[in-house]
Amino acid sequence: MLSPEENTYLTRTGPGTPMGELFRRFWLPLFLSSELPESDGPPLRTRILNEDLVGYRNTNGHVGVLDAYCPHRRAPLFYGRTEECGLRCVYHGWKFDADGTCVDMPSEPPESDFKERLTIKAYPTYEVGGVVWIYMGPRERQPERPPLIEWTELPATRRRVRKWFHENNYMQGVEGDIDTAHVNFLHMDYRPETERNRIRQANPLFHLGEKHPKLTAMDTDYGMIYGGRRLLPDGNYYWRVTQWLLPAFSLIPGKGRRGGTAWIPVDDEHCVRYSIALSPDEDMNMEQDEARSPSGKPQQFTLKDGTIIDTMIPYGTKANQYEIDRAMQKAGHYTGIWSIAMQDKAMIEGMTRTVDRSLEHLGSSDIAVIAARRRLLKLARDLEQGIEPVAPTHPELYRVRPLDLISPEANFGPLLEQHAEESRVPVAI
Ligand code: FES
Ligand SMILES: [Fe+2]
Repeated sequence: MLSPEENTYLTRTGPGTPMGELFRRFWLPLFLSSELPESDGPPLRTRILNEDLVGYRNTNGHVGVLDAYCPHRRAPLFYGRTEECGLRCVYHGWKFDADGTCVDMPSEPPESDFKERLTIKAYPTYEVGGVVWIYMGPRERQPERPPLIEWTELPATRRRVRKWFHENNYMQGVEGDIDTAHVNFLHMDYRPETERNRIRQANPLFHLGEKHPKLTAMDTDYGMIYGGRRLLPDGNYYWRVTQWLLPAFSLIPGKGRRGGTAWIPVDDEHCVRYSIALSPDEDMNMEQDEARSPSGKPQQFTLKDGTIIDTMIPYGTKANQYEIDRAMQKAGHYTGIWSIAMQDKAMIEGMTRTVDRSLEHLGSSDIAVIAARRRLLKLARDLEQGIEPVAPTHPELYRVRPLDLISPEANFGPLLEQHAEESRVPVAI
């Protein structure tokens, strides 16, 4: 439970808010590379951390990100012309490059130096891992590159990055990723084997283990490592160890194929989930993966104030109730919603856009959720006092892995010591 004031502090990420300033210290995913497929192709409208921006791939292939509105008379740059390494406003022809420099101002006389004195807001980008990343913080604090999370370093044949627009505050997504207890319920399918067909369901070990996992969370320099221990009938423990990476990434355990997420605030009531499947040791079967968890579709979404953004919207939305099948639910499928991602989406969007955490009643299964909230609140408060976070400028700290294993070991600390190698990404020398 949080007080209403703490809840506001945790969930607001617009310019000038403490949490917004913390997020602006990190490189953050902004677009899938595939959303901007061609040089000098059409721009995309976007909003991130409550700022309206427009992104385009320039003639050289670099992605420029500018204020969504022209500094002349605030016309929308979305309708602009992408030409010769710049974006030209179609209202009066002013043209800007990816650094925000005004490179042409044809509506002013040639002798005017107005052009030299005018810039547009522009943010640096970095493209890696099938994602265009943005840095929105102070230039003197800009980390050299985005975090070295394992999926960003894999070849495209071993990772699949999807993007789904969500109608909820980012923190509800973060909390879902570090809440292992819900998997025993939300993601289960208890129907006979023959009926399960294409339905995705959680690892069968969840059926066997205890429904009330014992949790341990430990702060790390990059975020938090958190273990959920379930007793199996043979006396061993099924351990799932999740990595939570500042400010809003996680790495989800799995056998062979693992998961990763990022929850990026659009504004205070919407966010984007990046969902990554990674298979570090062998190429993935992309068709099979697509069938199990379909990509979003490029679509427009109208935000509350009427602003339209170009984003990726999954099949399941609040409006279609995630295509819940009540007959399937009656037959033993726990939710009646067929994909795991949409099961999660139904829960976290349905809590209301920003859940009122003063109304919660947290139990022993919520230890990691509590720890993550405390950590973010502390880092934002520290930053207000001038104490900078360490993680953004140390991308190598992010080279960690989640764990999924069966062990007789009952204690988290010794378990991590025994599997220290497996929880680090091997680095080529
Ligand atoms: S409003 Fe963009 S050039 Fe005039
Ligand atoms: Fe889930």
